[in-house]
Amino acid sequence: MKVAIIGGTGDQGFGLALRFARAGEKVLLGSRDIKKAENTVNILHNMLKGEALEPVQGMTNTLAAEKGDVVILTVPLQAQIATLNSIKDQLQDKIFVDASVPLDTCIGGSSTHYVELWENSVGERSAAILKDKTTKVVSAFNNISSSSLTNIKEKVNCDCLISGDDSESKKVVMKLAEKIPGVRAIDCGPLANARIVEKITPLLITLNIKNKTRLAGLRITGI
Ligand SMILES: NC(=O)c1ccc[n+]([C@@H]2O[C@H](COP(=O)([O-])OP(=O)(O)OC[C@H]3O[C@@H](n4cnc5c(N)ncnc54)[C@H](OP(=O)(O)O)[C@@H]3O)[C@@H](O)[C@H]2O)c1
Repeated sequence: MKVAIIGGTGDQGFGLALRFARAGEKVLLGSRDIKKAENTVNILHNMLKGEALEPVQGMTNTLAAEKGDVVILTVPLQAQIATLNSIKDQLQDKIFVDASVPLDTCIGGSSTHYVELWENSVGERSAAILKDKTTKVVSAFNNISSSSLTNIKEKVNCDCLISGDDSESKKVVMKLAEKIPGVRAIDCGPLANARIVEKITPLLITLNIKNKTRLAGLRITGI
């Protein structure tokens, strides 16, 4: 299975690419700029010091979306619509994973505040943009911090809350998420629950600031 990361040059995309490459997945790291993608891949390989079983490939977002089986979106909210429009023809019959969070930073505000979207969540907004496609939309990785992903010496101490309307696609994403050491994937039901999951992230950011860390995460207990 090939995992494409759209916006893979950013913090979250880089962290996921690093963890999946380390777990032996074939990772395609996308960017609007192929040179930026290739430079990021060099940094990633230097960090992994030969640990990636499959070399990560840097390419344009469009090519990554075309070649990937699972396509993960990791761009800021203000870039979501333009980015998705640039790759949506490549997403037919694929699993599309939205890792975005609707942070107020997209309109110059604080990362501890969220913005309300008409569609209620970024995941649901992606599904609305892709409604004419046969793409299966899943929301995942929204609460896992890039700092814990890039801290490769340690396990990630956070559950991955996964929402989506297609059970089979969720199973694929859950299996992928659990390739990251320490991560437990939790099926959180329909995509509509992304509106709850995404809003936990500004709270985790608040806890990071309050406790002078970057590693706040969450665990669901009792199930
Ligand atoms: N950082 C975290 O710890 C974290 C945790 C959970 C969820 N998230 C969510 O994951 C998403 C990405 O976060 P991030 O921190 O990785 O963001 P980021 O570093 O600011 O951006 C990620 C990538 O998106 C592309 N991008 C940025 N601005 C763009 C624009 N205006 N138009 C098109 N592309 C643009 C850039 O890629 P190119 O220039 O290479 O195209 C950039 O490297 C966000 O929605 C965030 O809320 C982040």
